[in-house]
Amino acid sequence: MDLTYLAALPSSEFQQRRQRLLAQLADNSALIVFSAQEKQRNADSHYPFRQDSYFWYLTGFNEPDSALLLLKHDGESQSAVFLRPSDPLLETWNGRRLGVDNAPTALNVDQAYSIEQIGSELPRLLSGSTALYHADDLQRWGDQIVRDSLRYAREHQRQGLNAPPQLNDWRPLLDEMRLFKSEYEVALLQQAGQISALAHLRAMQQARPNRYEYELESEMLHEFNRHGARFAAYNSIVAGGENACILHYTENDQLLKDGELVLIDAGCEFAMYAGDITRTFPVNGQFSPAQRAVYEVVLKAQKRAIELLVPGASIYQVNREVLKIKVTGLIELGILHGEVEQLIADKAYLPFYMHGLGHWLGLDVHDVGHYGENRDRTLAVGMVLTVEPGLYLSRNSEIPAPYQGIGVRIEDNILITEYGNKVLTSAAPKEIDEIEIIMQKK
Ligand code: GLY
Ligand code: MN
Ligand code: MN
Repeated sequence: MDLTYLAALPSSEFQQRRQRLLAQLADNSALIVFSAQEKQRNADSHYPFRQDSYFWYLTGFNEPDSALLLLKHDGESQSAVFLRPSDPLLETWNGRRLGVDNAPTALNVDQAYSIEQIGSELPRLLSGSTALYHADDLQRWGDQIVRDSLRYAREHQRQGLNAPPQLNDWRPLLDEMRLFKSEYEVALLQQAGQISALAHLRAMQQARPNRYEYELESEMLHEFNRHGARFAAYNSIVAGGENACILHYTENDQLLKDGELVLIDAGCEFAMYAGDITRTFPVNGQFSPAQRAVYEVVLKAQKRAIELLVPGASIYQVNREVLKIKVTGLIELGILHGEVEQLIADKAYLPFYMHGLGHWLGLDVHDVGHYGENRDRTLAVGMVLTVEPGLYLSRNSEIPAPYQGIGVRIEDNILITEYGNKVLTSAAPKEIDEIEIIMQKK
């Protein structure tokens, strides 16, 4: 498996994205996007480097301390990157660099400069533009560079420099582009979904009472790695029993107990794209009647949601159907009492279902893109989203004893297609019979 990532997409894909972005800019404007920087973990150790998703989207370049500049003047466009210069000594210690000379060909851009020169080059390159597109508060080191460059240009007007008088945010443009996935992106998301699904299967096969939650986490990370996904897309949740009722439980340090469920929310990052799957299954391989009853309500809601999330529908509208199924289920279980529509109007379900039905998925697990005022944006072909209803019946709630401490979420990733949708994560089992058979084969 090629992990250089640049190999995963042709450089023309990145170039086309830049051209599509440039086409939307006002004439006589400049746009700058900064990379991520290394983040300190402690002392002189760093977290594994993760590129800024926007910068990656436009360049496919995986080094820190870089910037992309696009210029559009009289309808003509120019592109430049700033990057770390080659340095044999530093590269011996800290790893290879692409270097300024190699950058124009490797990244398909017109010009390359050392990042060390950005303070003097950027004011000159920005001169003559009427608007600068920049995203404030995203990469703070970049904000500083932009501020310094604008000040320098203003202070050197007599030397012929001038600062663009208008500052625009490029996020609305790029968020909208990222929301609609290209064929290449779909292929990578499909692979992320497939690998994530295999990891959930492995966790089911490896689960048994008296293993620690983190042992299942490590089984999943192993499966991700084995298939070329070096990292998880987000911190994995492996939550035994009552822990499943803590939505962002990531301690993963408790023993898995006989008779309890385990909820696993974990997905890999493959070539920068995220998978995001949740499965819930019995630690001992056999659902109890109470666990089965709760699970069936969530599964029914999840399957119905997948049927309904098609072009023209909205997450909001589909969540209304999900609420009907859940509230009906909660009444049947004796957890809620009353009439379905009234209980929905009163939000009586909130103690048991307190998050949204799903979110956009892409380079980021909670990907960018407008949802509409009430999550009522109409779905369209090329969007990718999660479908993740859950029920969380904490011990602290006043409900019949058999249901206390049961938390269930079932999460898949879907691509909206011309024909409805395609589930990208279907290789992760979710039918009760299927899960029980797999777990008995271990
Ligand atoms: N894993 C985060 C989420 O499901 O939204
Ligand atoms: Mn998730
Ligand atoms: Mn999710």
